[in-house]
Amino acid sequence: MEEQLKQLQAEALEKVAAAANLKELNDVRVAYLGKKGPVTEVLKGMGKLSAEERPKMGALVNVVREDITKAIEEKQVTLEVAAIEEQLAKESIDVTLPGRPVKAGGHHPLTRITEEIEDLFIGMGYTIAEGPEVEQDYYNFEALNLPKGHPARDMQDTFYITSELLMRTHTSPVQVRTMLKHAGKGPVKIICPGKVYRRDSDDATHSHQFNQIEGLVVGENIRMSDLKGTLDAFAKKMFGADREIRLRPSFFPFTEPSVEVDVSCMCGGKGCSICKGTGWIEVLGAGMVHPNVLEMAGFDSTKYSGFAFGMGQERIAMLKYGIDDIRHFYTNDLRFLQQFSVHE
Ligand code: DAH
Repeated sequence: MEEQLKQLQAEALEKVAAAANLKELNDVRVAYLGKKGPVTEVLKGMGKLSAEERPKMGALVNVVREDITKAIEEKQVTLEVAAIEEQLAKESIDVTLPGRPVKAGGHHPLTRITEEIEDLFIGMGYTIAEGPEVEQDYYNFEALNLPKGHPARDMQDTFYITSELLMRTHTSPVQVRTMLKHAGKGPVKIICPGKVYRRDSDDATHSHQFNQIEGLVVGENIRMSDLKGTLDAFAKKMFGADREIRLRPSFFPFTEPSVEVDVSCMCGGKGCSICKGTGWIEVLGAGMVHPNVLEMAGFDSTKYSGFAFGMGQERIAMLKYGIDDIRHFYTNDLRFLQQFSVHE
């Protein structure tokens, strides 16, 4: 019996040592020390022993049981520590890992162009004016010397809301609104960026909605040479110091004389596909504010004179960045937009 017990003990201790995790260890405990385990079996057989042998055997069983229990307890501590360490190793944060990139948006190319032009004119002492996109026929046309039935209205066919209310076709009505605010007293020196609308079919060069920047200067002794100097400074800052401008006679009902302004092409006049071989690119319309417009806006045209200009940001952006289709600005293809998302 003693032999049997010693063997049991050795076997149990071996299994405890071999247990790889807490579950296996618990299985060993149940197998050897449980109610149906071999140690209990030995105890049950004690009744058959003689009176002298019984206490000796009882003590031996207790020792064996204690030894196994102790071994299990020690192993349990080791396994628990190992489990915690394993979990810690698995969940630890490697602070040296590079961070995940955060995707940041960038400015839309038209916003960039608008801000660039704004900064440029603010630097020349202009302030920024705004006006409504839903405009009255009076400000959009009549007060700009385009009475009802004037043939030049055809060039700016638009979306009418009522017969007197429309989506503005240009930013020029802001000229009138601003002059009225000044109540006949100069000087006025503003630019006005904003959205405009035309009843056009969209294609590579037309859009039913686009952006313009209007400029207006009214004061005493404002001359055509002031307009030319201003636009020359604009062209050089916007496109490069080596660029020239050229004024061609044109017609706008709200200016007299009126001009179309070209900037020399980046090909240096040799002729390329952008300037279609001419060496010049048309960028804006301008002129001296028509006396009728000054008078309708409450300015004395014998005392005051002024110049005005209007340009489209889409056209400027297309020329500056070499974009060949105006629809790129509105279709929001990220591959297009990301080329301009430089973070300043
Ligand atoms: N409003 C004109 C257009 O949309 C552009 C323009 C031309 C504005 C001449 C002006 C100007 O202020 O003087 O076609």
